[in-house]
Parts: sequence; C-alpha cells; structure tokens
Amino acid sequence: VSVVVLYNGPGDAPAEIDAWRGYLKACDPGIDFRVWPDTGPLAEIDYCLAWMSKPGDLARYPNLKAIFWLGAGVDHLLKDRELPRHVPIVRLVDPGLTAGMTEYVLQHVLRYHLRQPEFDAFQRQGLWRKLDIPLAKDRRVGLMGLGVLGRDAAAKLVDLGFAVAAWSASPKTMADVACFHGDEQLMAFLGRTEILVCLLPLTPATAGIINARTLAALPRGACVINAARGGHVVDADLVAALDRGHIAHATLDVFTEEPLPVEHAFWRHPQITLTPHVASQTIAETASQVVIEGLKAVRAGRLPANVVDLQKGY
Ligand SMILES: NC(=O)c1ccc[n+]([C@@H]2O[C@H](COP(=O)([O-])OP(=O)(O)OC[C@H]3O[C@@H](n4cnc5c(N)ncnc54)[C@H](OP(=O)(O)O)[C@@H]3O)[C@@H](O)[C@H]2O)c1
Repeated sequence: VSVVVLYNGPGDAPAEIDAWRGYLKACDPGIDFRVWPDTGPLAEIDYCLAWMSKPGDLARYPNLKAIFWLGAGVDHLLKDRELPRHVPIVRLVDPGLTAGMTEYVLQHVLRYHLRQPEFDAFQRQGLWRKLDIPLAKDRRVGLMGLGVLGRDAAAKLVDLGFAVAAWSASPKTMADVACFHGDEQLMAFLGRTEILVCLLPLTPATAGIINARTLAALPRGACVINAARGGHVVDADLVAALDRGHIAHATLDVFTEEPLPVEHAFWRHPQITLTPHVASQTIAETASQVVIEGLKAVRAGRLPANVVDLQKGY
C-alpha cells in the first residue's frame, strides 16, 4: 500500500479532493489516500501530491519517495529552503493543462490578430469603422518558451497559418517555426514579433524579462500576452510602454502578487485585459492519470517523466 497525501489541493474544495481520491483509487484501490492535516504518522507517507505548500511542509515526511507538484511551474516550490532535494519532484505535464493553455493563447492571439481591442474602442464611441486585417501568414507571433506548453501552442498557431517564431534556452527545431535561442538571439526574436506570448518558467534568468529594454525591442504597436508568471513582467515598464503607445495592448493572466491588489494600475488600464490566473487549470480528471503513471514508475524503480531539474530550476 502506498500512502499518498494531498497537500493544498488545486481548489482545496471538498469536491476537488473527492475527485482526486476517486480517480486515484479507481486506478489503484490499494492507495491509502489521506488529506492534510489528517496524515496519520508522517513516517507512513510515501508520496505527496502538493500545490502551494508552505516552506518546510514537505520536509516533514522522512520516507517520501516522490513529490508530485500539481502545477507546471515549480517556482513557488523551489523557494522552499527546506525542500527535500534528494526526492524526485515531478511537475505536472498533463494533456488537459496543455489544452487549456493552448485555448487561452489562441483566444488572445486571434483577438489581437483580428484587432478586436480596436473594434471594442470603436463600439464604445458608437463608431462604424472598418480596419484592415492581414492574412495570418503575415502576422508574426513570437512565443517565449518552446517547452511543453509553447510547443503545443506553436503547433496550433502554425495550423492556423500564422508566422510563428519561438525563443528558448537551448537550440530547438520545429516544423514551420523560426527558432531562436539564448540571450544573443533575444533581440532578433523580439524585433520580428508583433504578438508576444510568454510561456517561460520563472527562474532567476527569466525574472523581469518583459522590461523596458525588451518591450522597446518589439515593433511599435505590438501586443503582449503573459500566461506564465507575474514575475516575468516589470509592471511599471509595461504600463509606461502602453501609455506611450509603443505597446498597443496586453493580456495578463498572472501577477507578482495574487490576487492582484485592488489599487494596482493594471485593473483599470484601458489597454490591459486581465484574467485571474485561469489560463490553464489543473483538472483532476486528466491530471490524476498523469500522477498514476508517475506513481507506477517510481514503484517500479524507474525515474518518472518530467522530474524537475533542480540545477536549471524548471
Ligand atoms: N497561467 C497559468 O495558468 C499557467 C499554467 C501552466 C503553466 N504556466 C507557466 O508556464 C510555464 C511553462 O510551462 P511548460 O510546461 O511549457 O515548461 P517547460 O516544458 O519546462 O518549457 C519551458 C521553456 O522555456 C524555455 N526557457 C527556460 N529558461 C529560459 C531562458 N533563460 N531563456 C530562454 N528560454 C528559456 C525552455 O528552454 P529549453 O527548452 O531550452 O530548456 C523551454 O523551452 C510554467 O513554468 C508555468 O510557470 C502557467
């Protein structure tokens, strides 16, 4: 029997916890599923499924064999100085999560491509005014990050015919995607990008990467979509670039402080669309299947897929 503790589940609502219990036990009735704080003796716990745990939480279990983090980004987890670093940490790579993010990216790229913010402004003024809309092949979309989420979004943007480029840490290739990498190719990537989509992990190397310098490198009138982490954006630099019209519009799903404080300038900025960190959500139905596969791998003595590289920080 493996003992699994669910720690600060995605929604923490009883229905969500019941869903996790139901899916896991349906796959393996032998799983003893416990929910914090009703863990029983801590030494009995083999695996933690965790989300937004607090520093020191995961260090309490002396016999952990793996930690399954119920989100794709581990920046929050890696801030925990007491994190048991000898235990494999598996981040969530889940078809449901990926599909959700791609839908979000497509929605907002299409909205910018089809110039909807401008039509919204005309509507508010009672103006019947047509604008030219280029062919998708002439609309240059740029993805920062060509990982699990970036690749899926890129593939679907290519299907729609967009001129897609991507920027990653290491060199990559992908059919019909212009691939850039590393600091030395960042400016060239930005210079050709009219709609920028951030899907990077938050690490010391990517913190504040959407700043005055990088925004200025985008062509005038570019739009920015940040669905990764709030820490990627220097808020004041983005507001300044929007105010002077260099950046036409921004869509933000994530913020340095969440919930976004009521007094923050983003709330009322006419060129900002915001959503409350919902670009993609962990849904037990699909995520539990991925966790089950990971549990099977660890129990068979294999390293599960998608173990976080603690050196790289993602
Ligand atoms: N808003 C939401 O609801 C939501 C939901 C899910 C995920 N997210 C965010 O999305 C992020 C990406 O997820 P993922 O699963 O696609 O991650 P991933 O598979 O690890 O991909 C990360 C990509 O970013 C690139 N990268 C990392 N550091 C870089 C650097 N310094 N310079 C250039 N490129 C760099 C990587 O390059 P290499 O390929 O060369 O390593 C890789 O292509 C997560 O970390 C999370 O923060 C947000």
